[in-house]
Amino acid sequence: KFEKVWLIFGTVALLVFLTVLGVSAFYLGNQPPSCLVTIDPEKVEVTAPFNAPGLHEVTGKDWDYELVFVASAFSYSPAKVEIPKDSTVKVIATSKDVIHGFEIAGTNVNMMLEPGFVSEYTTRFNNEGENLIICNEYCGVGHHMMSSRIEVV
Ligand code: CUA
Repeated sequence: KFEKVWLIFGTVALLVFLTVLGVSAFYLGNQPPSCLVTIDPEKVEVTAPFNAPGLHEVTGKDWDYELVFVASAFSYSPAKVEIPKDSTVKVIATSKDVIHGFEIAGTNVNMMLEPGFVSEYTTRFNNEGENLIICNEYCGVGHHMMSSRIEVV
C-alpha cells in the first residue's frame, strides 16, 4: 500500500521537475538578454567599430571617448593607446578567435572577450601613468605574452 503512495509521489515529483525545466528552458530561450550585442567573428575587421581599433572622441554621450579593442591570439589591437587624464572612456571590445580576457591590472575593469559577442565597460581615468591590460583567460601557448598598454597623459 505504501509502495503505491511513494510511486505516485515520485511520478508527480518527476512531472513537476520536468514541467519546471521545460517552462524555464522555453522562457529563457525566448527571452535572451536584451543588451547582448553579437558580431560575426569572421567579419570583425570590416564591422564598425572594430574596423577602426583605438581611441575615438565622441560627443553628445555620457562618455568622452570610445576605446575600441580587438583581441586575437596573442595580442590586442591597439597594442598601446594614449588617453587624456580625467576622461570617461567606454571600452568596446571583442575577440577574433577564441575567448580572451581583458583586465586592466590593478583596477576593477575585468571583462571576458568572446568571439561573436561585444563586451563593453565604461570607466574613468583620473590618474596619470601607465595601465597594463592583460589577458586572464587561458587562450593558448602565447597567453602569458598577451598584453596592451593604456597611457594616461
Ligand atoms: Cu588571450 Cu590569454
